[in-house]
Amino acid sequence: AAHGGEAARGLRFAPVAPNTRDAVVVPEGYVQDVLIRWGDPVLAGAPVFDPDRQTARAQALQFGYNCDYMAVLDLSHGGGHGTYGGHGRHGGQLLVVNHEYTTEVMMFRGYDADNPTREQVEIAWAAHGLTVLAAEEQRGGRLTALPRHPLNRRITATTPFELTGPAAGGELLRTTADPEGRTVLGTLNNCGGGITPWGTVLSGEENFNQYFANADAVTDPATKERLARYGLEGGASERKWEAYDDRFDLSKEPNEVNRFGWVVEIDPYDPESTPRKRTALGRFKHEAAEPRLTRDGRAVLYMGDDERFDYLYKFVSKERMRRGHGSRVREHNAKLLDEGTLYVAKFSGDSPAGEIDGTGKLPEDGEFDGRGEWIRLAGGDRSYVDGMTAEEVYVYTRIAADKAGATKMDRPEDVEPSPRSGKVYVALTNNTDRGKDGKAPADEANPRNGNKHGQVLELAEHRDDPAGTRFAWRLFLVCGDPEDPSTYFAGFPKERVSPISCPDNLAFDPYGNLWLATDGNALESNDGLFGVAVRGRREGEVKQFLTVPKGAEVCGPVVTEERVLVAVQHPGEVDGASADKPASQWPDGPGKAVRPSVVTVRAEDGGPIGA
Ligand code: FEO
Ligand code: CA
Ligand code: CA
Ligand code: CA
Repeated sequence: AAHGGEAARGLRFAPVAPNTRDAVVVPEGYVQDVLIRWGDPVLAGAPVFDPDRQTARAQALQFGYNCDYMAVLDLSHGGGHGTYGGHGRHGGQLLVVNHEYTTEVMMFRGYDADNPTREQVEIAWAAHGLTVLAAEEQRGGRLTALPRHPLNRRITATTPFELTGPAAGGELLRTTADPEGRTVLGTLNNCGGGITPWGTVLSGEENFNQYFANADAVTDPATKERLARYGLEGGASERKWEAYDDRFDLSKEPNEVNRFGWVVEIDPYDPESTPRKRTALGRFKHEAAEPRLTRDGRAVLYMGDDERFDYLYKFVSKERMRRGHGSRVREHNAKLLDEGTLYVAKFSGDSPAGEIDGTGKLPEDGEFDGRGEWIRLAGGDRSYVDGMTAEEVYVYTRIAADKAGATKMDRPEDVEPSPRSGKVYVALTNNTDRGKDGKAPADEANPRNGNKHGQVLELAEHRDDPAGTRFAWRLFLVCGDPEDPSTYFAGFPKERVSPISCPDNLAFDPYGNLWLATDGNALESNDGLFGVAVRGRREGEVKQFLTVPKGAEVCGPVVTEERVLVAVQHPGEVDGASADKPASQWPDGPGKAVRPSVVTVRAEDGGPIGA
């Protein structure tokens, strides 16, 4: 893997060129392996995957559909449960993988979208949620899955969750099946996530609105407005789950939808633990939740709401994290995300508004940059928003942020604090509606109207205090084809960067480089994974490390010294494609089902990535 000349450490590889191949394409000198595919066994008793005879029972024991965010933890660091180690020769790993959504037409031959069968609906429930999966490193470096490991777990759309925090038990969260408002069945549309410093995994419930039917039957104007703000307006839902469970029918169970759209917290080291939905973190289309600690040990989470013109949030816990593995320490840390203060971001540019013309032309000071503030929305039982109770702020957080005057962003996707500098990177994936039909026009943080390619914002908290309420910011990347004059790569010479469009998931490597996965590349190439230095002489030199098959997006990148892991989500999902008429032969070749899968990449010579 001796390519790429003088690039920053960790990024010394020959960049992969844009392409539309039906393959995962990696740099010369690197090898790839599929770690696990949709339908592969996770739990004991899982039958061999047979897409033509799939059952809900089988699916609940197998890897779910459309893998998204991945957390990779040490198998032997069991936060007090450290008895499960010793499987891997080099120490095993524990993966936690989100399964964001199902694409029934790709999963079932002859699928009738108007009349799904009960079995198909129940398969979809079992294919949602998360997988906890142990893995071990083989001699030579290949990572392989350990099906039936005692820590393996499937969490699905029917697994009981506990609602916790200030809105739990409130009237807005009570239903016929759960008059206490504290127990929800399942998690849906788990997109991004994060690993907490106390050893749990967070996962964001994103586009939950698509599962709920008959919002148009709701007559109360206040409820109607709230539903509309969360994208619920239609009659039948896309998957028709309401035909088999009343809780997905808003005309029968108006509050069930309020029990989705949260950040969930899972203890992957305790397969018996009840996962939790944390109401103190607010309810919106949660993309991810990436933690940092304050100097005195309080937990700070940065969170994006992935919708055009929605917001960036943060949460600061009241209590400090405790270190150690004892049960009292774990009980204490398990409550950290239940009490604290929820904020939303307001960005101000430092250049005259007249210099931001919506084309992406740099203002005279040479940078899209400025200052910002975190506006308090609620803390504990106290609301800081006029006309809303604290409970309403947590459940209808978007409406609270509207009232607070937050800045409307170009789809905040993943948010990632640099473990080195503390600076926070925000992927703003795109917003083709920017400036259209009376919608919010370009501003310095979102400087292009009709924004097709997105941008990456860098946020520096005042005095590097993540609990503070003021920050400075600049756009680090304005994405697109480097030949497009509206692009910007932190000032790096454009002729030496890879084209990049629609940044989505973010990760840092051990050298402090930022890695960006794309979703929806609008440059006529498949989506890819890119690395870029965020400081030093090579700052802004974007280099493409891999591309995924047609129709797929790159998710959950994890970049360690030994390997790169990516979740290849929705391969072959293009207009008109189906299980009967597949648009991809990945990963198993012609005549085989297209299967979302996790792929690992390592250097052929066994050396570190990007060395
Ligand atoms: Fe599920 Fe916003 O990506
Ligand atoms: Ca400026
Ligand atoms: Ca995403
Ligand atoms: Ca996405």
